[in-house]
Amino acid sequence: MFKVAVIGASGLLGRALVDELAQQSDWQVVATAFSRPSASTVVLDIRDARAVEQFVEREAPDALVIAAAERRPDVCEHDPALARALNVDAVRTLAAAADRRGAWTLSISTDYVFDGTQPPYLHDSAPAPLNAYGHSKLEGERAMSETTDLGCVLRLPLLYGPIVSWAESAVTSLVPAIAASAEIGAQPATMDAWAIRYPTFTPDVAVVIRQMLARHARDEAIRGIVQWSGDEPMTKYEIAQRLAEALQLDAQLTPQYTPTDTTPRPHNCHLASERLEALGIGRRTPFDEAIRQVLAAFAWRDTTSA
Ligand SMILES: NC(=O)c1ccc[n+]([C@@H]2O[C@H](COP(=O)([O-])OP(=O)(O)OC[C@H]3O[C@@H](n4cnc5c(N)ncnc54)[C@H](OP(=O)(O)O)[C@@H]3O)[C@@H](O)[C@H]2O)c1
Repeated sequence: MFKVAVIGASGLLGRALVDELAQQSDWQVVATAFSRPSASTVVLDIRDARAVEQFVEREAPDALVIAAAERRPDVCEHDPALARALNVDAVRTLAAAADRRGAWTLSISTDYVFDGTQPPYLHDSAPAPLNAYGHSKLEGERAMSETTDLGCVLRLPLLYGPIVSWAESAVTSLVPAIAASAEIGAQPATMDAWAIRYPTFTPDVAVVIRQMLARHARDEAIRGIVQWSGDEPMTKYEIAQRLAEALQLDAQLTPQYTPTDTTPRPHNCHLASERLEALGIGRRTPFDEAIRQVLAAFAWRDTTSA
């Protein structure tokens, strides 16, 4: 039986991945969480090296996927020690423990390792992060390559997918402001029309990871750095327009053509997905279709939990 450990299974990407892997009847999944455990997860603090080593020894997975991280740029900017502990040191500990057991490690990284000035970026383009989050993730990539030969880094851009709160994804976090702008007498909502993003659906990423795991299961493990991205460029202003349309809201949106964030963010980090595409790996659900699925599932969840 092929056994996969998913570290950070309570997060946006981790949940989609566990849902996808659960459909593989001949695979076994062991999933970890930290502050949001459930009946189907094991509690693991990845900053605790001893606990990580014991977990890997005990579970003896064939592959380990690291979806746990501190991924909020503002938090990383203000707490670089936390960013390093999760995005660098924990990656090293997990990859070392997996390597000792001969398990393949897949670590998730970000398009923010690039400065966004010269897209598209290939997997071997020169990284130049602009903020503390990007720096920590780049160091995490280096920690992986220094620690194990039996590993792979998968870089991803802005993610959205099934959510447990609007704030969970930078795509759906726009919804409250969009809805407020549609109230009678409300002020328009200002939306960033400067930064270009490629929103990527977590269930599609989960398929990509499942296909990568299947190659490892066939002794054809992918190593080094790979990238996956949606193929529809849009600014947050355009994302907000599409969300308003999907929600049938008469939103008042004002584009802002200069950067708005206090933490520096790249302009356009389009990731070329050529390595995975050449292997026949990938799936891309159109944004308008995927976002309607996300909104419908969240509305249903909201109704049933009310
Ligand atoms: N979200 C994006 O737009 C985006 C874009 C590009 C790349 N990425 C990368 O994709 C990966 C997944 O991101 P995500 O959006 O799914 O993140 P997320 O929703 O914030 O989930 C983070 C996960 O990390 C776990 N975690 C936090 N602190 C931990 C600790 N001390 N010990 C063990 N686990 C801990 C959380 O567990 P609890 O919730 O149970 O505490 C949760 O499962 C990350 O590597 C991120 O950098 C994300």
